[in-house]
Amino acid sequence: MKDIIEQLESAREHAYLGGGQKRIDAQHDRGKLTARERIQVLLDPDSFEEYDTFVEHRCTDFGMEDNTYPGDGVVTGSGTINGRLVYVFSQDFTVFGGSLSATHAQKILKVMDMAMKAGAPVIGLNDSGGARIQEGVDALAGYADVFQQNILASGVIPQISVVMGPCAGGAVYSPAMTDFIFMVQDSSYMFVTGPDVVKTVTNEVVTQEELGGASTHTTKSGIADRAFENDVVALMQTRRFYDFLPLNNRQKPPKRPSFDSATRTDASLDSLIPSNPNKPYDMHEVITKIVDEGDFFELQPAYAGNIITGLARMDGETVGIVANQPMVLAGCLDIASSRKAARFVRFCDCFNIPIITLVDVPGFLPGTAQEYGGIIKHGAKLLFAYGEATVPKITIITRKAYGGAYDVMASKHLRGDLNYAWPSAEIAVMGAKGAVEILYRKDKDDPDKIAEHTQRYEDLFANPFVAAKRGFLDEVIMPHNTRLRIIKGLRKLASKTLENPWKKHDNIPL
Ligand code: HXC
Repeated sequence: MKDIIEQLESAREHAYLGGGQKRIDAQHDRGKLTARERIQVLLDPDSFEEYDTFVEHRCTDFGMEDNTYPGDGVVTGSGTINGRLVYVFSQDFTVFGGSLSATHAQKILKVMDMAMKAGAPVIGLNDSGGARIQEGVDALAGYADVFQQNILASGVIPQISVVMGPCAGGAVYSPAMTDFIFMVQDSSYMFVTGPDVVKTVTNEVVTQEELGGASTHTTKSGIADRAFENDVVALMQTRRFYDFLPLNNRQKPPKRPSFDSATRTDASLDSLIPSNPNKPYDMHEVITKIVDEGDFFELQPAYAGNIITGLARMDGETVGIVANQPMVLAGCLDIASSRKAARFVRFCDCFNIPIITLVDVPGFLPGTAQEYGGIIKHGAKLLFAYGEATVPKITIITRKAYGGAYDVMASKHLRGDLNYAWPSAEIAVMGAKGAVEILYRKDKDDPDKIAEHTQRYEDLFANPFVAAKRGFLDEVIMPHNTRLRIIKGLRKLASKTLENPWKKHDNIPL
């Protein structure tokens, strides 16, 4: 028995070395942690229970039978983050470059399956050269099995990918199907085809970083939700983010104690809106002033900045915030912002997170680029996402709510539960200038008449009262009371039940 225990201990020590000290040193030299070190940072101390430590690949081609490593390039198991269960897989770049073999895939599938049964999220730490080249189609089959499991888990348990090294070829489609992708600056990249293939096919010369680095995916493609400066920050922020989420689609997110009073008011909000309607203000200020302790986890902050999305807490409960940002493109809805917000709204709806929408939108962005790019379908995504969402929806119109964008932004007509407006709200088909130009084209050369028409239009529509008279707004509230009113609303809506008609699934305009 003693012998066996000694053997076990030495086998474990060997397994913990992954691909060996030299490769571990190389990983460290690149500023990267090893797969196991990452798990230690991500999870609560001593909470990690590893599975399949001794699993080895079964490939016999290319001399692989003599080239095995216990664990086969991925560390899998479960643990806790601030006491709540989570399943993890962490690819080990020191073993065959973290490449995915049939057995590596089976290990990932096992923890995903356990997570589904237990109803707990999966966090994947990706650092891999892709399909294990020596295994050919077996590796491709392994990927497809992981994709399939990602799809079945979608909307059941939250899935988070932290890309901490290479992630190339078809391998990108596993993170792509998870709910959130975080990346590490300068040491991670994701692309479907690498720089060499790009050069051969399109003649473009591009570096790995330019093609698929963290800055590309957080600013240009919008594929990544956040990028962090190194492994440790990325993992600590993932812990912080995890705390906002429920364990699965049948549970509510955890309530966290807050030192911020539910009845706190903020007088500075009363003077935030500039008197000139064309002057912007920073919607972040509204968000940080109304949420608990100003703590807002923004998603995709550097992409489609005309809409702000992220998670925060109010009265200790997680809320999803969607807000037009007048500082960027005047807060217009366009293709990128509609897609960004639609996916976020759907995430919140999957996982029982109430949605708070802050509206200051002058309409959809005009132009051929938008029309040719399909703004009709993309804008419809956001409309569809809001309309199908059954979680509590509270909307505050701070200033402009014009045209179709008024309807889209969680209006009463899309089953908004509580729709409030600040006294500065303007709700109309379009701004006064545009409206007068169309309605009074015959007077276009008479500035006095145009001024008179504009004034009349503004008197009628540059306020919240027409909508309030029709009941499209539940109340006009003072800006300083916004937090208080939202929290009161959330408390009442905590027991909200609403179901959509039975269907296999909807057909959202993709
Ligand atoms: C087997 C691999 C591997 C792979 C890397 N290695 N990728 N082994 N299969 N896919 C091994 C290397 O042989 C090396 O072994 C070790 O991992 C580290 O790799 P290096 O090349 O030395 O590291 P680096 O210079 O950092 O380059 C990393 C890399 C490069 C950019 C990822 O290794 C690379 O280009 N690999 C191939 C990527 C690729 O084409 N994958 C297939 C993509 S297609 P030693 O023993 O020397 O340490 C795909 C299809 C998925 O994934 C389809 C799903 C539908």
